[in-house]
Amino acid sequence: MTVVPGQKGTAGVEEVPDPDAQDAALLVRGMALGLCGTDHEIAEGAYGTPPSGEERLIIGHESLGEVLEAPAGSGFAPGDLVVGIVRRPDPVPCPACAGGEWDMCRTDSFGERGIVRLHGYGSERWRVEPDFAVPIPSGLGELGVLLEPASVLAKAWDQVDRISQRAFFLRGRALVTGAGPISLMACLLGVQRGYEMHVVDLALAGPKRDLVEDLGARYHAGDAVDIGVDVDVVIECTGLGAVGRSAARRLASGGIMCLTGIMNLSPALDVDATTLNRNMVLRNQVLFGTVNAGRRHWEQAAQALATADPSWLRGLITRRVPLTS
Ligand code: BGC
Repeated sequence: MTVVPGQKGTAGVEEVPDPDAQDAALLVRGMALGLCGTDHEIAEGAYGTPPSGEERLIIGHESLGEVLEAPAGSGFAPGDLVVGIVRRPDPVPCPACAGGEWDMCRTDSFGERGIVRLHGYGSERWRVEPDFAVPIPSGLGELGVLLEPASVLAKAWDQVDRISQRAFFLRGRALVTGAGPISLMACLLGVQRGYEMHVVDLALAGPKRDLVEDLGARYHAGDAVDIGVDVDVVIECTGLGAVGRSAARRLASGGIMCLTGIMNLSPALDVDATTLNRNMVLRNQVLFGTVNAGRRHWEQAAQALATADPSWLRGLITRRVPLTS
């Protein structure tokens, strides 16, 4: 599954050489691949970078595959299910990458498989280094394809947990904006932490509402400002300024707001620095952004998926298409 980054309409399926054994030790049979907004942006020509010296990029960063070949001592064996980690450290490692926290890279020269500078996992066979492969707990099976998005939310919540230790904090209620897969994953992880979870989206009814309610969380259709309760945590997953501002108005004093959605630069910059300043300073609030996930978040995510209800997780997979279509 390839695309010429920067050129809309170039996404398609083509024959590419088998991955080179020198690239990475594990040879994997691709089983499933999740597609998200980032893939859509790459296909639209708005994001993505091919590997140096190449025109096309193999896309796909939400992987799942079965190990075909694994060297002795790699910790993996043929038949194991694995997911490939997305980010790789920058070539001249910055202090964060050198310390193994490549998700906190200080430069823009990291690689991301299927997104920037490195081919992704959208092929029948792919390779991955054992250090960048995550084993899928037995029993999860094809639901392991949800691990990558789950890792991004595991990082978001991990950061909330760490920030919450700065002073008195009430682990009471949390609000998630939007009810797509990323939001639903944020809600699942909040429920697992014991928060009273609220989710706001525009849809009045349908699978999103059902999935939220199946978690025992409260679903609100409409504007976040109207949910009727204040919250200690907001996880913003829409990347829409108006939605984020409404949700911020429900954030309690001392609350933590996490941004996971990315706002578009066009049509106009959307900034309200005065309101932001008055709330954050006068009400001890924290606003932070998070992207990608470090090794420990992949492991936390695997744990979170293993303890979730498999039939609920299956509900997140809305349709399947073969690679050939
Ligand atoms: C991926 C992350 C990546 C981010 C920015 C997201 O869709 O899940 O792994 O860091 O895009 O490229």
